[in-house]
Amino acid sequence: MGRQVEGNLWINEGGHLCIRGHDLVELAEKFGTPLYVVDAQRIRENYRRFRDAFSSYPRVLIAYAYKANPNLAVCSILKDEGAGAEVVSGGELYIALKVGVDPEKIVFDGVSKGEEELRMAIEEEIGAINVESLEELRKIEKIASRLGKKARIGVRLNPDVPVRTHPHDVTGARHSKFGLDFKSALKAYEMAMKMRNIEVKGVHIHIGSQITQVDSFKSAALKLFDLASRLRGMGITLEYLDLGGGLGVTQGKDHLKEYADALLKVIREKAEELDLGEPKLIFEPGRYIVADSSVLLTRVNYVKEIFGRKWVLVDAGMNDFIRPAMYGATHKIVPVNKPQGEERYDVGGPICESSDVFGRDVRLPKMEAGDLLAILDVGAYGICMSSQYNSRPRPAMVLVDGDKVSVVRERETYEDLISKDRIPD
Ligand code: LLP
Repeated sequence: MGRQVEGNLWINEGGHLCIRGHDLVELAEKFGTPLYVVDAQRIRENYRRFRDAFSSYPRVLIAYAYKANPNLAVCSILKDEGAGAEVVSGGELYIALKVGVDPEKIVFDGVSKGEEELRMAIEEEIGAINVESLEELRKIEKIASRLGKKARIGVRLNPDVPVRTHPHDVTGARHSKFGLDFKSALKAYEMAMKMRNIEVKGVHIHIGSQITQVDSFKSAALKLFDLASRLRGMGITLEYLDLGGGLGVTQGKDHLKEYADALLKVIREKAEELDLGEPKLIFEPGRYIVADSSVLLTRVNYVKEIFGRKWVLVDAGMNDFIRPAMYGATHKIVPVNKPQGEERYDVGGPICESSDVFGRDVRLPKMEAGDLLAILDVGAYGICMSSQYNSRPRPAMVLVDGDKVSVVRERETYEDLISKDRIPD
């Protein structure tokens, strides 16, 4: 079979990088580059590991965060595994319904939901709408009464806890726009209890993304229980506790067990102390489920040396994968068609922006035009954050599943670039 590089990546006898036995050189030749390659089995494995980590608790819903990768094939795999959906827009709700997720298992989050999006959610009788403002609550009540429906809601608490991650990924701190502070959250519950078309079901927190410090999750959960306890005093019993997503992924270390054990401990202790019974738990993982399922294949266009730095210039750009440019995220870059070497290169794309750089001082073999590289762990916030910037058609995406290779997103064409543009008469 060859030699394992990491996870699901191997080098075959021909010296080529493979994903589950599929030669990436062949895939690049067949489907062109830049190319996202997704490993279906890795998604299933990640989902099952996450599910099993909480299996000692009787009622858990894992609502996969669609924003991480809303591709139909990806969402369909997760639906077949039994996952629910965390959606933040009418579009994501549409996709969840399209792949056949049971509406009961759909949770609608978002700080500024539109009227039409809310109408859709209420009409479809989804499991929960997590409310982030008093005005949103009033709007939901109005729409529900117009439709003659009852909307099931939770309130998103902004727990104001410190979190160590990229500032763009912090959502549970007092400077961020998300959720309601403790006092306003109480007010929302008070209001909601008086509304005829609202059923108060739960509470929601989500403190951010790419978090590996379990203490932050614990502190946030404790704040959630402070609220639950006050609500108990008001006669409100919560049916669900939605703990959001945010578990980070780091190469070579899995934080899941630590995360699940710590949260379950807090939840069990607090639920018993406050006599809350066993409320349903909702988790909304995105990155953990899909990040390491995918690689981005890119071909080298040029190699050059300027001011003593060696550059590899590839055909993927920040429009195809924006995380390094946007968050300074580090993604491992490995050779695909030749063995690893000891040269050092900066790896840049074709976009006319200096932030269009995938890596600095990357260890690689001697590179030549035509060589292939793989950027790793691009399955979350990858293709879904791609754009057509610099008028570049978005890349294709193929899914490998057992022996099968399927195009699950077609490469865009030049025609696609202008298909929505109009020149006035
Ligand atoms: N639930 C809510 C309410 C969220 O806002 C998010 C992510 C998630 C769940 C899933 O979080 P995850 O488990 O994937 O960390 N584009 C950024 C990440 C933005 C995350 C936005 N919200 C990145 O590439 O790092």
